[in-house]
Amino acid sequence: MTPRKIIIDTDPGQDDAVAILLALASPEEIEVMGITVVAGNVPLDLTQTNARKVCELAGKPETLVFAGCDHPLVHRLVTAEHVHGETGLNGPDLPDPDLALQDQHAVDYIIDTLRHEAPGTVTLCPLGPLTNIALALRKAPDIAERIQEIVLMGGAYFEVGNITPAAEFNIYVDPEAAAVVFGCGAPITVMPLDVTHKALVTKPRNDAFRAIGTPVGMAVAEMTDFFERFDKEKYGSEGAPLHDPCVTAYLIRPELFSGRFINVEIETGSALTRGMTVADWWGVTDRPKNANFMGDIDADGFFSLLEERLARL
Ligand code: RIB
Ligand code: CA
Repeated sequence: MTPRKIIIDTDPGQDDAVAILLALASPEEIEVMGITVVAGNVPLDLTQTNARKVCELAGKPETLVFAGCDHPLVHRLVTAEHVHGETGLNGPDLPDPDLALQDQHAVDYIIDTLRHEAPGTVTLCPLGPLTNIALALRKAPDIAERIQEIVLMGGAYFEVGNITPAAEFNIYVDPEAAAVVFGCGAPITVMPLDVTHKALVTKPRNDAFRAIGTPVGMAVAEMTDFFERFDKEKYGSEGAPLHDPCVTAYLIRPELFSGRFINVEIETGSALTRGMTVADWWGVTDRPKNANFMGDIDADGFFSLLEERLARL
């Protein structure tokens, strides 16, 4: 099996970190060509530092990391320190990275990679606000038809919002960027809160991370121990929802997930419902279908995969 070439676009974030670790631990299925970083959970200077820390934690200091946009297309940046802590990666005490940032801007790296690689051979995996992806599409519209697939974490339907009553954080932060991406015509697979809220790090699962007995296992346990507070307090959840690793797991074992090919539009005009993913799950409109919108996950299978792969690092 030829590994799938991917670019991870991310705003680490503890769950982003686990998604990156899972990708870097799975070379049979995934070739991480580069990691592009965006402002989101915390400002860009922290998200880019966190991305480099995670690559070193994975023992992959050769990973190419590119800094991208430090603010959304239109709105001011909204961050989520209340969930991820002031560093964005609270929990483990990870050393400052030696791994240097690449000089090229993330947006230009995305464009150049898609233009250089054969059409239909590169998958984009956005795990944060879609600002970098949208700017790349605006700057180089020709890349849309060269994208193999966009597999992203964002949005919600039955689960509604986690940052407002109507919107999930990644889409809420930059709804104009999300509208560009969902309208670009590339194949899109969406991991919404409807799925990620079923991927909870319960105590037995957190204990299993610790039982791996490696620095990676311990760091992941400490990350999820920290960022579970928000969801436990708000939803009464049994543990932290591993939002972003659902994207990576889908690339490795898509059969863990199920959903529908439907129309998804993004609300950009209303202050009340800004960033809402209006998902036509029941097919009540004749709007063109544009996204493979996931609705369910085999959570036990997901965590078995995660534990097995993290133990490799
Ligand atoms: O709403 C959850 C998403 O927002 C995740 O990607 C998390 O890392 C934050 O970016
Ligand atoms: Ca994220």
